[in-house]
Amino acid sequence: MARRRCVTRKLFVASPRDVRYVGDDSTRGAECGKDLECRSATTVQTSACTGSHENGAPTMWNEIFAGSTVIVSGGATGIGAAAVSGFARAGANTVLADVADELGEVLVASLVDEGLHADYRHCDVSVESDVERTFAWVAERYGAIDVVFANAGIEWTKDARHTTLGEWQRVIDVNLTGMFLVGRASLRSMCENARGALIMTSSPHAVATVADTVAYAASKGGVSALVHALSLEAAPYNVRVNGVVPGTIDTPMVRRELQASSNPELQHSLLASSQPLQRVGQSEDVANLVMFLASPMAGFITGALMPVDGGLMAGLPTGSPASYQD
Ligand code: NAI
Repeated sequence: MARRRCVTRKLFVASPRDVRYVGDDSTRGAECGKDLECRSATTVQTSACTGSHENGAPTMWNEIFAGSTVIVSGGATGIGAAAVSGFARAGANTVLADVADELGEVLVASLVDEGLHADYRHCDVSVESDVERTFAWVAERYGAIDVVFANAGIEWTKDARHTTLGEWQRVIDVNLTGMFLVGRASLRSMCENARGALIMTSSPHAVATVADTVAYAASKGGVSALVHALSLEAAPYNVRVNGVVPGTIDTPMVRRELQASSNPELQHSLLASSQPLQRVGQSEDVANLVMFLASPMAGFITGALMPVDGGLMAGLPTGSPASYQD
């Protein structure tokens, strides 16, 4: 396919199967010369996209990530799956590490069918030997690891009085110890090679939470602290460590929570209308930020915890006392 160039200042986030525009409809396609190929492009075009279009897909990201090696933990569904697709379509050797073997293998097979480079590895991030084995396999197969998106996590909704030690331990094991194990393996490899970017998924619950999310909130508080500590350790080696802080993102995790209500669809629309941007986020919204943080364009960003939350953490809850509004 002919190589084409485009210039756009809006974000077009799509896969060949799911052409979708994220942004203001009034400007849809305007900057891109109504180039539909551009909109069916892989993941993201930001300001002054000067990338080429090959196979009807890539954008400038393919100039950055082609041939890179990327590991995504928790990449079988939701946010991680969007990142796996994004990096693979940008030309990276993308390794999906997860415990959901069937879902992970299906996603990898579909990417390989597109002619992309993706592998699935079973890896429980809370098990040291799984993490070590995964990183060793990737190093053996691809050499230096350029990007790791440490994203695997589980939700647990219970107050402290009803949380058993086993439940607490499981959440901490996956959400925090898992981040430590993946982060440690990343830094060992990246610091030796004097390059790399590690991105970890934290949560707004790290800073402000609700009463019945005790273990989850504590685990995510630990993740945010881990981002700071690892970023300082890695900085002298030219390795960057950042966190993403997704707001309410429409993933299987959130869908499972909504299923607990008597009217999940109503809850979903209430959730959307309670967001400052009047919608819940999509996994691609987070994947876009992850790809930016992994890129050289974020070369001076480390130790940051970046919200991608539609404004969720910008404001006080609605229904504030009248005095607030005076
Ligand atoms: P999800 O449930 O769709 O995806 C989580 C992935 O992690 C799944 O593929 C799952 O199989 C995998 N996983 C679970 N335990 C694992 C383990 N022990 N080892 C390896 N992989 C494991 O959920 P979602 O929403 O995509 O969550 C991704 C991350 O984003 C999590 O860390 C979550 O806490 C965080 N997050 C999600 C938000 C949301 O609104 N969806 C908001 C803020 C943070």
